[in-house]
Amino acid sequence: MTSSIDRNTATAASPVFDLKAYLKQYQQQVEAALEQSIAVVYPEKIYESMRYSLLAGGKRLRPILCLASCELAGGSIAMAMPTACALEMIHTMSLIHDDLPAMDNDDYRRGQLTNHKVYGEDVAILAGDGLLAYAFEFIATQTQMVSPDRVLRVIGHLGRAVGAAGLVGGQIVDLESEGKTDVSLDTLNFIHRHKTGALLEASVLCGALLAGATESDLQRLSTYAQDIGLAFQIIDDVLDITATQEELGKTAGKDLQAQKVTYPSIWGIEESKRQANQLVEAAKAALDPYGDRAQPLKALADYITARRN
Ligand code: FPP
Ligand code: MG
Repeated sequence: MTSSIDRNTATAASPVFDLKAYLKQYQQQVEAALEQSIAVVYPEKIYESMRYSLLAGGKRLRPILCLASCELAGGSIAMAMPTACALEMIHTMSLIHDDLPAMDNDDYRRGQLTNHKVYGEDVAILAGDGLLAYAFEFIATQTQMVSPDRVLRVIGHLGRAVGAAGLVGGQIVDLESEGKTDVSLDTLNFIHRHKTGALLEASVLCGALLAGATESDLQRLSTYAQDIGLAFQIIDDVLDITATQEELGKTAGKDLQAQKVTYPSIWGIEESKRQANQLVEAAKAALDPYGDRAQPLKALADYITARRN
């Protein structure tokens, strides 16, 4: 297989990329696919609860990263849409569980009451479980125009990103670190590389895997994804201090209240922003060989530091 790098486009003059229009168009397509992904059948309560959180809006960043990465590697939106939806299902389930009283005990998410506040803790736990299992079923049964070996790689990669080697591992170190004032930068990086970074990286890599990307493409995309993953979390920590509850759609100022060690608590706000910008520049540089074809992923990297929620 040839590399996805097109050396002709790499040197061509870049037209201005309209990220706002791009996000609007891709968000609409993802919303429509998510809306159709789960029907309400008997026993209705569990499907309603799964849909309540899945369809509560959100930036849909993970699905869009997956679609953009698939397109960069030469694939189509149709090939990646089931995986894109699955990524949002997994992200949503992790937030439902993260908000539970046994974890962060939060009342608001995406501008509305958290799942357990509406449906009760028992149903919220099951809604998360249902979304997690369905995500994998959805990829396996809905992916079309992709060979089974690629789909298998995607499922394997995603499973690893979600389990103890990824999200779950990051979350447990986060929980263990709560209330401690001597959390090191290494531990903080471990938490975020796993809790947030692993699924963001999986979003980018799964899109590329579906398109049959080469190992060197995957390497570059992995560098890009790890850098934006960390930048995303640094900005999340900054926004927890600087943004309002209305902007965030969830309770603001929680890290300070919980006396959590965060990037701003170690570096201060300005240095945190500088570090995030540096990571975004490095992420974009990793995609330079793709020329204009990398414009969507590069613009998405900028969006991560410029966002207000
Ligand atoms: C939000 O972090 C939480 C996460 C990014 C993931 C949490 C992971 C779990 C609950 C494990 C889920 C289980 C599986 C099987 C995936 P945060 O609390 O720092 O941010 P917030 O302010 O948005 O709540
Ligand atoms: Mg939380």
